[in-house]
Amino acid sequence: MAILTWNAELSVHIKSIDAQHQKLIDLINSLQKQISIGMGKDNVAPVLAELLGYIVSHFKYEEKLMSDKGYPEYSAHKKEHAGIAAQVRGLSHTLGSGKPISSPEMSAVIKNCLTQHIMSADKSYSSFLIEKGVK
Ligand SMILES: [Fe+2]
Repeated sequence: MAILTWNAELSVHIKSIDAQHQKLIDLINSLQKQISIGMGKDNVAPVLAELLGYIVSHFKYEEKLMSDKGYPEYSAHKKEHAGIAAQVRGLSHTLGSGKPISSPEMSAVIKNCLTQHIMSADKSYSSFLIEKGVK
């Protein structure tokens, strides 16, 4: 069962970024599903690697937009991205070392990736970037 669903409250009103956030939610749901049905490390690791890869490219996309448009909170936002990426990388290392990933750890990543980050940091750049013509 999906643990997160896309809803209008998550929208930053920028089409490309909303689409990427939806893809992120899909990947997190896939990962959670693999873990909850007790799939082994060999099945979970590729999904986690895909999630990490997607997170990194999505963050780069946002960072380029913010940098190109001269967003004043760029540095702080970039720092927040680095923190989230490090957390997901940590999960990947934990898994690689053979330890199981616990649900609370997963929940923390999900919370950082979405509930907190999209709802606050991402929403903060929304009107600035839209005013600069980003769609
Ligand atoms: Fe962001």
